[in-house]
Amino acid sequence: MRKGILSLTAAAALLTFGLAACGDDGGTTAAPDGAASSAGAGAKAAGKIGVILPDSKSSPRWETADRKYLEEAFKAAGVAYDIQNAQGDKTQFQTIADQMITNGATVLMIANLDSGTGKAVLDKAKSQGVATIDYDRLTLGGGAAYYVSFDNVKVGALQGEGLVKCLTDKKADKPIIAELNGSPTDNNATLFKEGYDGVLKQKYDSGDYKKGPDQSVPDWDPAQAGTIFEQMLTEEPKIAGVLAANDNLGNAVITVLKKQKLNGKVPVTGQDAGVQGLQNILAGDQCMTVYKATKKEADAASQLAIALAKGEKPAATGSVKDTESGQDVPAVLLEPQAIYFDNVKDVVADGYVTKDELCTGDFADKCTEAGIQ
Ligand code: BGC
Repeated sequence: MRKGILSLTAAAALLTFGLAACGDDGGTTAAPDGAASSAGAGAKAAGKIGVILPDSKSSPRWETADRKYLEEAFKAAGVAYDIQNAQGDKTQFQTIADQMITNGATVLMIANLDSGTGKAVLDKAKSQGVATIDYDRLTLGGGAAYYVSFDNVKVGALQGEGLVKCLTDKKADKPIIAELNGSPTDNNATLFKEGYDGVLKQKYDSGDYKKGPDQSVPDWDPAQAGTIFEQMLTEEPKIAGVLAANDNLGNAVITVLKKQKLNGKVPVTGQDAGVQGLQNILAGDQCMTVYKATKKEADAASQLAIALAKGEKPAATGSVKDTESGQDVPAVLLEPQAIYFDNVKDVVADGYVTKDELCTGDFADKCTEAGIQ
């Protein structure tokens, strides 16, 4: 068992619910058939679920995967829901939460922008009797009733192991490693770093690798990641491996490497297995990514939310320790998977990206080579 995780299982299925057909609404807000959802107040029995996603630029996942899968699950269950994206704006995040509560949300699910504003939102929700779920990112000190995510230390460990594998394949000799960490305000970034530093530290300590520049990227912002890496490479031109905490950061690094014709020579890691990340792997510019089956995460979270909206008290499969409050938060944590050139096909087979969007133009041949059907 890893630190802070008392028990967990990869099983996403928590409870089974009678599914009511609905699915007539194309928008982000939907009301269940026949439910007393119009007035908000007094609609307690029907329940209404509010979801706030963090942004669109730190990763494509939030809009292309999380929103889609959550919407599908809510529609299938016939519950009223409202999914909004704060677009990186912390004030807006709180405004959206206030509006959702005013409009009768009985369950609020958030992927916070930082723990401070996340906690303010959770506190407000709890004070109004609204059930709370931390989605993907734990709000430190927030005291959400549930947390649904992946084993994020494991995500980081896969990245660290991935970088080691790619450097070994390249027979790199005492490579200098640069680290581009995620946002310092995202607890996940801390966990990812714990995971990959756990692997890399052994290499630094043994003298196999040399520790180079190590910096966090504010808000996971790819533009800032490019600037940061450009400086890193200027100061340390012999960087020979890059631990980038997600695909968007990795792509920013690859863009800089391309200018020096170093792409493909310097292995770069990632996370999220989006189209661009996978294409960078197919092109040989990115060494690996971490696939997190977002559908499973969205399904687990929406099952909890739906049960809460119905006034039930669903059970979680495990718990995590909130390092700020010291409390155990009931949690569902899923297993991540490392993806290299040879198993990009797994992500396609899982339906996370389609062959059509991945295998465009020059990538068609690479897709064939990688056995993508
Ligand atoms: C998520 C990653 C994502 C990153 C940037 C993290 O909290 O777990 O999947 O790439 O945020 O949005």
